[in-house]
Amino acid sequence: MADFPLLIIDWYRRNKRALPWRDTKDPYFIWLSEIILQQTRVDQGMNYYLKFAANYPTVSELANAEEQRVLNDWQGLGYYSRARNLHQAAKSLQNRYNGLFPDKYEQILELKGVGEYTAAAIASFAFGLPHAVLDGNVFRVLSRVFDIDLPIDSTKGKKEFRLLAQSLLPERDSDTYNQAIMEFGALYCVPKNPDCPNCVLNSKCLAFQHKTVEQRPVKTGKIKIRPRYFYYLVISNASEIIISKRVSNDIWKHLYEFPHFEFDTVQEEADIKKLVEEKYGLPMHKMSSAKKHVLSHQHIFPVFIELKAENIKEQLRGENELVIRREELADYPVPRMIERYLLG
Ligand code: ADE
Repeated sequence: MADFPLLIIDWYRRNKRALPWRDTKDPYFIWLSEIILQQTRVDQGMNYYLKFAANYPTVSELANAEEQRVLNDWQGLGYYSRARNLHQAAKSLQNRYNGLFPDKYEQILELKGVGEYTAAAIASFAFGLPHAVLDGNVFRVLSRVFDIDLPIDSTKGKKEFRLLAQSLLPERDSDTYNQAIMEFGALYCVPKNPDCPNCVLNSKCLAFQHKTVEQRPVKTGKIKIRPRYFYYLVISNASEIIISKRVSNDIWKHLYEFPHFEFDTVQEEADIKKLVEEKYGLPMHKMSSAKKHVLSHQHIFPVFIELKAENIKEQLRGENELVIRREELADYPVPRMIERYLLG
């Protein structure tokens, strides 16, 4: 389909959004935008991009920042490993490349948190290198235009789509084409109810001709959701509260929360009460469940148990726990779920 790139680029020139990371060739800002947009929509990510670009205008300023500050600035965006990896990658850019960005796809791919999609995006947008981007939008557009029923979350599917995407990449303006196909997927060839009758590609779109648009792309849907039940102990007195830092290689690493018990099934209130009394010697003040918190592969069911303790330091149980004053809470990055609880 020789004119596919031209049609997509022509649509893009007439319909694209003005976005700040499209007005620069600076690989640092392009990298920043791509990491923020990895699991985040443009309207949600924009303010974070502007904040990071302002607070950390260079690789070295990001590399030299405290991790806690970076996580605090990321708060609310979710998938915090992105922020930790961004920070660590900035340090390695600083050490290995003197704060400059490498201009080879393979070197970009070595950076922490940078996968094939992001490496291709940086190589293309910053350096004009001929690497096709393949994100959720591109999968959807290609699966429809070529009416491909291979699951996009299977190994075989990924490989075929990668080959197809690369074969379509035009020699001229490959960076514009990459932006264009993603934008076309984000704005026009949308998951639900796309406006096919008015689409500039409909005479070429095989899924439109075969009436399979709504069934594309195909997914195996094999991801398994793991339920986790967190029984949080919110131990406080009039002015202080105990928080605890997450340190293991798990969700929310290096964020703060409350000491807790974790189970993979729901627990009886009486059993929790017993556990609390055994460990803390304190009666339960109040126990309340909050809304289920949905992550991509896990569902977290939080329960908050309020305990009052005058001599709060005696209730510290682990080396990652600390007593802080309530007004200091804002200095500690916390998962959204904890933030919601704190806001009441
Ligand atoms: N999503 C991911 N990368 C993007 C980009 N460069 N422009 C718009 N949306 C995006």
